Amino acid sequence: MTLAAAEGPDRAIVAGALVPAELPALPGRVMSADELLVWVRELADRASVWQRYVAHQAGTRHYVSLYRDADVDVWLLCWNLEDDTGWHDHDLSSGAVAVTRGAVRESRPRLGGDPAERVVAEGRAFAFGPDHIHRMGGSVDGSVSIHVYSPPLWRMGQYAIAADGEMRRVSVSYAEELRPLDA
Ligand SMILES: [Fe+2]
Repeated sequence: MTLAAAEGPDRAIVAGALVPAELPALPGRVMSADELLVWVRELADRASVWQRYVAHQAGTRHYVSLYRDADVDVWLLCWNLEDDTGWHDHDLSSGAVAVTRGAVRESRPRLGGDPAERVVAEGRAFAFGPDHIHRMGGSVDGSVSIHVYSPPLWRMGQYAIAADGEMRRVSVSYAEELRPLDA
């Protein structure tokens, strides 16, 4: 999932808020999904370095770029029940997500069937490869998750699924806020 690194008038979004010394050790290369899962859990445990960036505002998504270099891209996302990324992929990137407060929901589309859905609660984490297509949202108001991607996000695919099941992919920049295309 993913999001913009910019300052907006009604939401404080910080680009690359953290320095490497505040982060778990990075190997200086692209990391696998398994490595990202271990790494994001370590960062989730360091609440003192990211806690100050948590904020929840009704009616607008809040997300912060915690760190970005040539190999990884790290975000803090705040969720309310109304928040929904829509269907998307992460192009070439693997990723890992640690839920640090509340719970988020993750859905994966299934052709000819209902989406596979799960709720990931505080203290849990999951990882995925570049083949993964999902949509995420808040399962509880006031939820928080930390996301790491490697290689860093540049482009992502957003999907619209029509009522008859036809899917269509739109390539978007990582700096665009993900929203449902079929809303
Ligand atoms: Fe995602």
